Amino acid sequence: TDPAVIRNFCIIAHIDHGKSTLADRMLQSTGVVQARDMRAQYLDRMDIERERGITIKSQAVRMPWEVDGVSYALNMIDTPGHVDFTYEVSRSLAACEGAILLVDAAQGIEAQTLANLYLAMENELTIIPVLNKIDLPAAQPEKYAAELANLIGVEPEDVLKVSGKTGQGVEELLDEIVKQLPAPQGVRDAPARAMIFDSVYDTYRGVVTYVRVVDGELKPRERIQMMSTHAQHELLEIGVSAPEPQPTKGLSVGEVGYLITGVKDVRQSRVGDTVTGNLNPAQESLGGYADPQPMVFAGLYPIDGSDYPVLRDALDKLKLNDAALSYEPETSAALGFGFRVGFLGLLHLEIVRERLEREFKLDLISTAPNVEYDVVTEDKSHLHVKNPSEFPSGKILEVHEPMVAATIIAPAEFIGAIMELNQQRRGIMGGMDYLSEERVEMRYRLPLAEIVYDYFDQLKSKTRGYASLNWQADGEQVADLVKVDILLQGEQVDAFSAITHKDKAYAYGTMMATKLRELIPRQQFEVPIQAAIGSRIIARENIRAIRKDVLAKCYGGDISRKRKLLEKQKEGKKRMKMVGRVEVPQEAFIAALSSD
Ligand code: GTP
Repeated sequence: TDPAVIRNFCIIAHIDHGKSTLADRMLQSTGVVQARDMRAQYLDRMDIERERGITIKSQAVRMPWEVDGVSYALNMIDTPGHVDFTYEVSRSLAACEGAILLVDAAQGIEAQTLANLYLAMENELTIIPVLNKIDLPAAQPEKYAAELANLIGVEPEDVLKVSGKTGQGVEELLDEIVKQLPAPQGVRDAPARAMIFDSVYDTYRGVVTYVRVVDGELKPRERIQMMSTHAQHELLEIGVSAPEPQPTKGLSVGEVGYLITGVKDVRQSRVGDTVTGNLNPAQESLGGYADPQPMVFAGLYPIDGSDYPVLRDALDKLKLNDAALSYEPETSAALGFGFRVGFLGLLHLEIVRERLEREFKLDLISTAPNVEYDVVTEDKSHLHVKNPSEFPSGKILEVHEPMVAATIIAPAEFIGAIMELNQQRRGIMGGMDYLSEERVEMRYRLPLAEIVYDYFDQLKSKTRGYASLNWQADGEQVADLVKVDILLQGEQVDAFSAITHKDKAYAYGTMMATKLRELIPRQQFEVPIQAAIGSRIIARENIRAIRKDVLAKCYGGDISRKRKLLEKQKEGKKRMKMVGRVEVPQEAFIAALSSD
């Protein structure tokens, strides 16, 4: 295809502003998907994506569109909208010349609208501002067109107005994509260079790698090279998604499509890497490539210990499709054998956990999520602590915690409530701007540990659901952090240890001790529950003793009934974990570790 008739674009939007719905409508308007084959969110292939209505993995699709008698090929690259997947967004943007900046006409600009816009501007993309959902009775297109125009420096009339739901304005938008976006530039005779912006594991085809060709041409059957690792593969198939895979005789300058090489692991075909030909390899790769870094860690343990091998295989399988997932085996005295798993954020954690439970039929306990600390010990060595129970007990020089730069957008009436919340979370305000008379953008620097748990829920409830949040990693800081241990009858329960700020240690200790007093049944002896920092006890509760004699209830009667009761008690014991001499029911661990 001649690059002059190619347009590569993506749609960027805040979550729920209607990106997938608009993408579906474009597939329909361009005729690549017939109305009768249309199912909601065609591009979101995973069931879990469709159910949750969110896009996790980006996908690309080629659509024909005619303007003034000329046939164009529009390549639409769908991008994930959630903050946990920003890394994938930025790779997708790098494969495009332009971006549709989509804003809900009833909501206006939100935090991820800005974050995505900034990413698009960094990639020097041409931006087409579009208001969506103009069919909604609550839509305020004039007001938000002004807001959007003001943000990117155009006239309010230049903001297109569409409805992905009814299809209004979508054909005009397709025309504007052709007219406003530049055609891809590249050197046809140069050695081939293609950027990987996605790779997906498929049970039948192995890894399917999505690429954007920048220079030269890639052809089927030729040998290719991954520039970061120099690994070589044969190109078994090359083609475009339209949206079903359609093999072609090659991909050249400006084209977007897929490659299949028969590799089985997405790590061999990494997002951000450059593909080149083996015979005439390019000298320079297409710029930065960084592994996505896990930010949040949690222990995952099978409730039934014999499921451990199933969990291991399940994680191996998920990893095939999720280069950002990392895990290593760990053991816990309280929970048995499991894994410490690293995630990009809490949503990522939830999704992985849900997939493990649903697709692999696993029942899991997860420990409270935590961040990674850099602990400097007295001999100046650095210890990277991903599991609170590994926090050293000896002398510590300092502890570094990861920080984030957060942007919050909300109606101005909530400024006070937002400032209060951020103060409680050890946040420092960096600045504040009014987007319009009634809406503000507030910028904070916060410890990541303070936002991984319930921060977003709190922010939503304090702003009646109106605030939106975006954050990104922003270095680290030295903080006064301690490890709080929980002891049952003097025995430490590793799964309950937490690293907290010194000022919050007491609150954590009391909360856990009270919770456990209610969850652990009485034993034949008194059980003290203590929270401790090192050897210093900071909170204490007692479970009083009982004499539990199940046979006493039988009044010496029927012997078979007695036997049944004894059997029952034995069964119950199987689901008990022993902590020292204390029997703790499995449910107590689950309940104590669940967030509320
Ligand atoms: P992510 O893929 O998770 O980023 O979400 P999204 O931006 O793709 O949003 P999605 O397309 O899933 O739409 C979110 C909600 O808005 C859904 O309930 C849609 O039915 C609704 N919606 C999308 N477009 C329109 C529209 O033009 N009009 C109306 N009334 N509703 C819309």
